[in-house]
Amino acid sequence: MVELRAPSIGVGQTALFIAWMRQMESERPDALFRDPLAGAMLSALAEDPVLADVAEVIKQTHTSARGFPTYFAVRTRFFDDEILAGVRGGIRQVVTLAAGVDGRTVRLDLPDGTQWYEVDLPEMTEFKDGLIAHSGLPLRCARHGIAADLREDWSVPLRAAGFDPGLPTVWLVEGLLMYLTDAAGEALLAGVSKLSAPGSRLTLEHLKAAMLQEEGRPARERVEEQGARWLSARDDLAEWLGGHGWRARVYAGDDPRIGQGRTVAPLPACWLATAVLDRSGV
Ligand SMILES: C[S@@+](CC[C@H](N)C(=O)[O-])C[C@H]1O[C@@H](n2cnc3c(N)ncnc32)[C@H](O)[C@@H]1O
Repeated sequence: MVELRAPSIGVGQTALFIAWMRQMESERPDALFRDPLAGAMLSALAEDPVLADVAEVIKQTHTSARGFPTYFAVRTRFFDDEILAGVRGGIRQVVTLAAGVDGRTVRLDLPDGTQWYEVDLPEMTEFKDGLIAHSGLPLRCARHGIAADLREDWSVPLRAAGFDPGLPTVWLVEGLLMYLTDAAGEALLAGVSKLSAPGSRLTLEHLKAAMLQEEGRPARERVEEQGARWLSARDDLAEWLGGHGWRARVYAGDDPRIGQGRTVAPLPACWLATAVLDRSGV
């Protein structure tokens, strides 16, 4: 049997935390999605001390940031629906930047011919590739795990894996931008935009600026306990995306229009955006 070890990188632990949140959601009778890869991760790492650390953070989160589990459920479903809208509209190429332990390649109902590229740091990509193999869960698409640092030129390994910039793409940037500096986030969006053919769609999440102030301190402390750090936040997503040629709709994380009947409170920490390429204004 393959031996799986949790990635030791701090920000990688946040991916385990979020997968655990997805497992909690999956167990609800009214689940907004069911993620079998999250369950497989918890079983595979049951004896790994890293998981005990993550459990402690989850316990603390229940008192300091009670909105988080609901927020992650709503966020996951929001991006699921946006990705499915893209592929059902004919797009067959999906790229997740900072995929972590995201289980969409084994759980979404995807059209034949879908090519899905999942980029993350080498240690996380190796762990994810191993986890999927170890889980025995069938893939719902052709999945390509790509080891790259998104602060560097990730377009080279992406293209080498088969990504075609001539085809429209659905891009997903979930749980990443806050861990990058403003400059790195800017470079990432420029890279995405450059690689996007007409008809491409972009869905992303970013932190509200207030989360870098006093209001966000308890949640920030939980993130820092996992060895990660929020480095950027912004409240001007529509304008920012517009400047790169994307026409965006932006929702606060607690917007009832995307809540699926759930209430995300008391910590509406993030923005969720969905955008289509519209170079006419740039
Ligand atoms: C909070 S997790 C989110 C994972 C996944 N998108 C999800 O929502 O479950 C953050 C992820 O960003 C990845 N990450 C952070 N910095 C990165 C970088 N410079 N290059 C590539 N991946 C990075 C981490 O390894 C981790 O998997």
